[in-house]
Parts: sequence; C-alpha cells; structure tokens
Amino acid sequence: MQRPSPGLLYKSFEFYGLPLIRSLTGTSLFMEERGLKVFAPEEEEPDKESEVFFNEKMLNNRDLSQIAVKVFRKRAGLEEEFRVADAMAASGIRGFRYGEYATDLHLNDVNPEAVEAIVKGLDENGIDATVHEEDANVFLSEFGNYFHFIDVDPFGSFTKFLDSTARAANHTSFVGLTSTDNAAPAGSYPTVCERRYGSKPIKNDFMHEIGLRIYLKEVFQNFARFDKCFDPKVCFHERHYTRIMGRVTESKKRTNKALENVGYLSYCGNCLWRKFERVKECPECGEETQEAGPLWTGKFVDQRFTSEMLEDMPEEWEAYEFLEKLDAEAEIITPYYDIHALASNIGTSSPKRKEFIEALREKGYPVERTHFSPTGVKTDAPIQDLKDVIRDLKA
Ligand SMILES: C[S@@+](CC[C@H](N)C(=O)[O-])C[C@H]1O[C@@H](n2cnc3c(N)ncnc32)[C@H](O)[C@@H]1O
Repeated sequence: MQRPSPGLLYKSFEFYGLPLIRSLTGTSLFMEERGLKVFAPEEEEPDKESEVFFNEKMLNNRDLSQIAVKVFRKRAGLEEEFRVADAMAASGIRGFRYGEYATDLHLNDVNPEAVEAIVKGLDENGIDATVHEEDANVFLSEFGNYFHFIDVDPFGSFTKFLDSTARAANHTSFVGLTSTDNAAPAGSYPTVCERRYGSKPIKNDFMHEIGLRIYLKEVFQNFARFDKCFDPKVCFHERHYTRIMGRVTESKKRTNKALENVGYLSYCGNCLWRKFERVKECPECGEETQEAGPLWTGKFVDQRFTSEMLEDMPEEWEAYEFLEKLDAEAEIITPYYDIHALASNIGTSSPKRKEFIEALREKGYPVERTHFSPTGVKTDAPIQDLKDVIRDLKA
C-alpha cells in the first residue's frame, strides 16, 4: 500500500502554504442537506461555470451513495479502518456525508473556490479531513491501493478517471462513479460512443439500459486491466445521469470468471424482440437485427446488497421508493419493455402498467416495474406473450 500524501494542502484546516481563506464573494451558506451545511452560490441550474458546484436535485444520488457506502463497510468488516476519497468534491457535500464512516477522509477538487468552500464546510460541520487542490488523476495516483471507497463525480464522462481510480482502489473496496454523458451511450451520438467507450449503442425505447450496460462494461474492463474485479452492486439511471457503484476485489480468477458478463445485445426494430446474444436474424419475425455492444450482460443490481440498503435507509427519503424498484428488478436480466412501444407495435393503445403487470403475474411470469421509466416493465416473458396480454387487456 502506497503512503499518502505529497498533494496535501490543508490538514484539519491548518495552513500549509496557500492563502487559507480567500474571499468568499458569492459563496453563501444557503442550505443544509441531511443536517450538513453547504457553502455554494444559490443557483437554479448549476453547471460547469458555477463558482462552486452544488446541485440539490442530486439528493437521491447522494442518499443512495451514502447508504451503499454504509452497507459496504459493514459487509466488508471495515469499521475499524475505512479510508475514503471524494475526488471531485465541489462543495464537499458527498465527502461530508461519507465522513460519518471514514477513519481517514480526503476531499479533492481542482477548483480553488471549491477548495475554499470545502475547508469552510468541514470547519462548520466539525468534520476532520485532508483537503487537496489537484487534478483528480494526480490526486488519486498518489494513493496506490489505498482507498476503501472512492467517489468520482465529474462533469460529463468518468472515463478519463478510470485508470487512476482503479490504481487507488484498495484490494477490497467500493467505488461510485457518476456520468452525465448519457447522450453518447444511449445512442444519440454513436460515433462518440464508439470513440469514448469502444461500444456500439442503439437508440430505442430502452436506450438508457443499454447506456448503463455500456458504462458498466467500460468500468469493469478498466479495473480488469489491474487484475481487479468490479462487481456491480447498485447501478441506476435517473434523469440526465447514470450512477455505477460496485465492489472491487483484487483477484485474477474472479475477474476471469466475470468476463462472461461482457457480450452483445441483439434487437429487432420490427417486432421489438431482444436478447443478450449475437443473432443476425430475428427468431420471431425474420427481420435483420441491430446489435449493441460490447456491453455488460449480467445483473447491475445485487439484491442481497439492496435489501440491506433498504433496511438502512429511512423510509421517508424519496430515494427509498426508487431503491425498492431497483431491488425488485434486480433478478430480471432481459432489458425492460416500454408498454407504449409494445402497444403501438401491435396497433393498439397502451394498457395501464399496473394492469399489465398483474396480467403477466397471473400467467406466472416474473415481472416488475423498472426504475428506468414510468412506462417500463422488466420481465423474462416471451415477446409474443407480452403482446397477447396487451391484446386481451384491450379486447
Ligand atoms: C459535478 S461537480 C461535483 C459535485 C459533487 N460531487 C456533489 O455531489 O455536489 C464536478 C466537480 O469536479 C471538479 N473537477 C472537474 N474536473 C476536475 C479534475 N480534472 N480534477 C479534479 N476536480 C475536477 C469541478 O471543479 C467540480 O467541482
């Protein structure tokens, strides 16, 4: 394990050579999140240009991340020593929230205004941490195999930070990565997707699941280069972003075995049939299929993990219901079906999701709502049976 810490700027708010408190012009205390104070300008739509970035609409992401970290630490038996890095901390809110579990907490941001807000927030919230002002790749590269949890939350895609994250992740650790680059892996920019992720997407009614699976393949393969196996625990899509969270274990054997989860998806645009297999001709209607991949073909949620998260998450949090959906759909591998797309494919109007799910359950099929879409269902039922159920409901 590599020792910390040439990049250290502030340790427990002490001054190490740079002006510690710069002007806080425009950086005001404007809200608390889950009882923690945050210093950032109040903005409707924070973006890259914000002096210090803070998006209160990412609350679900942070709630789910905090509970996932808590569950991982407990399951891995790391209560005594738990080293945490928030590599792109902005206001520091994520790091503050992970602070409850960390025995050694590091917050980093390349933006000096953000560093200033972090230092102030740590002070106000009474949290002890080391603060860095570096490019995230430089910061993480100073900590080989060190961290038990790393959070990577850039503007856009996380791909440029995968190598340094894989190097800094301990032999047993947990990693959470957010990407707001969904247009590429969800098929709006196929060439960008091939360049950035080395995969072919498809733009269709379940493109966000294809996008998530392309991201996941990319994360898995980057860790695999370091003989580290990335095992997805709770991955999801919400609005404009995708979050990938999983456990990292250093093991060649485990990584080799998990390679079987990297493959291709075949999809028929004519009858909506889909399968994780390379099939040139649709077995249902004979049309030529479209192919997406390489992508992750295994589970992207581990139900044993999410059921523990449900025990730890307060039921009144909005993220609770979202987590219930993730937990319920975990075991169903086939990409979700959009009820409107199915109905329109057979020239009828769409039934209510609840009725559709009940009718499929009566036929004995596993079927669940999906977190991806309010009109989506996850099921392994054959496509013809899905269409027959809609016909019966609309008869
Ligand atoms: C989306 S914000 C992070 C939001 C924060 N994690 C939260 O939950 O509120 C992205 C942050 O990454 C920082 N950043 C961008 N590129 C970076 C880099 N190469 N190294 C370190 N920080 C970077 C930006 O200054 C910004 O504060």
